[in-house]
Amino acid sequence: MSSIHIAAEVGEVAERVLLPGDPVRAKIIAENFLSDVHQYTAVRNIFGFTGRYKGERVSVQATGMGIPSISIYLHELIEVFGAKKLIRVGTCGGMNEDIRLRDVLIAQGSSTDSSIVNQVFGGAVNFSLLADFNLLRTAVNVAEELKLPVKVGNVICTDLFYNDYDDVNGTFGDGKNTFNDKLRRYGILAVEMESAALYLQAAAAKVQALAIFTVSDDLWRGERCTTAERETSFNDMIKIALETIIR
Ligand code: HPA
Repeated sequence: MSSIHIAAEVGEVAERVLLPGDPVRAKIIAENFLSDVHQYTAVRNIFGFTGRYKGERVSVQATGMGIPSISIYLHELIEVFGAKKLIRVGTCGGMNEDIRLRDVLIAQGSSTDSSIVNQVFGGAVNFSLLADFNLLRTAVNVAEELKLPVKVGNVICTDLFYNDYDDVNGTFGDGKNTFNDKLRRYGILAVEMESAALYLQAAAAKVQALAIFTVSDDLWRGERCTTAERETSFNDMIKIALETIIR
C-alpha cells in the first residue's frame, strides 16, 4: 500500500529516517553515506531513499520546507510506513551572538509561532515541544566521540521565512528591543521552520525524534554561508545524525 505523497510499498521505508528539507540533499546523503541505496519515491520530486549505514537500514526522506509540508511526510512515514526514529537534518539561521556560521545545533526544545499546538490543545496548554531525551543524549555523546562541537538549546520554529518580527511597531519594534532581540534574550539559538511539527507529531505517536541543524545564515551578524562551506559542515551533521540513529 502506497501513501498519497510517498509512492512506496510498506517495508521499503526503514524504521530509522533522516529528514532533510531539500530533495537534492536527500540524494546527496543517500549517495555519499549509504550503501545498497534504493529510491522508493519521487512524487513531486520530493525524493526518498533507503540504504544501509554500518549494516543498519536507514531511509532518507525529503520533507520540503515548513510545517505544513513536513507534517504531511511525518504523518505518512509514521502512520503508514511505521517510522520509529526520525532525525531532521536541516539548516537554520543563527540568532544569537554565540552562534556562528557552520555551527551544528541540536534543538532540545522547539518554540513556535505556529498554531499547530493550539490546534491540538485548543489553547488550554502551551505544550512543550521537546526532543526525545535518549536521541538527544546519544547525539551529544556521538558528537563528543567524533570531536565535533555541537550547541544544544531552544530554537524558534516559524511559519514565515520572511517575517515582520522586527517591524512590529509599538510591540517590540522600537529599534532597540525588537522581537528577535526578545527571543535572543530568552536564549533562542536559531530560527528554522520544521522542528515544532516533528516534536509534536512524535509526541502524539510516541516515536523518537530529534532535530539537528547546520547554521547556514547568521541573522545576528547578517552573514550567509557559501555553497562550499555549507557542504563541509553539513557532512559533520550527517555523521552525527547517522551514528545517532543506528544506536
Ligand atoms: N529563517 C528560517 N529558516 C531558516 C533560515 C532563516 O533565516 N535559515 C535556514 N533556515
